[in-house]
Amino acid sequence: MAIDTREIYVTALKNTHALELQALQIMERQVERLKNYPEMEDALRRHIAETHGQRDRLEEALQGLAESPSAIKEGFLGFVGNMMALGHTPAQDEILKNAYANHAFENFEIAAYTSLLAIGEAAGQGNLTGLQQSLKEEEAMAQVVRDLVVPTTRRYVELTVAGEKADR
Ligand SMILES: [Fe+2]
Repeated sequence: MAIDTREIYVTALKNTHALELQALQIMERQVERLKNYPEMEDALRRHIAETHGQRDRLEEALQGLAESPSAIKEGFLGFVGNMMALGHTPAQDEILKNAYANHAFENFEIAAYTSLLAIGEAAGQGNLTGLQQSLKEEEAMAQVVRDLVVPTTRRYVELTVAGEKADR
């Protein structure tokens, strides 16, 4: 049986909602462990606040379609989960793994929102302004995270060479 565009859109909204919940978990876990990396900590705190808004937009979109954000497609978060698990292994270079994983995660979200918007258009959804705003926020955060790769790495090297704890 054919699946209509509305149903595809609803599934995409639910998947993106699950992705944002995952994002919050990942960032909240990291942000408490970044004493030596204040720029990363600030960026994550700002993006956690933004992500609450992104989650709310997705919930509103689902409510507008008389749907609720349950029933996540099995396995959708598997790839992301594996990628993010990189940073959870206690290791001296945990901070570097988190820097790479955050970069990957934000770009994953950019693809997810870009796709969601295309699906929304195909489904004839008139008002996609909120989701477009979320995409812009992900793009901005991806850039911040990218720009932090080198300073974070330099700080990691400095601390490590000085014999200090550099993992977080
Ligand atoms: Fe994000």
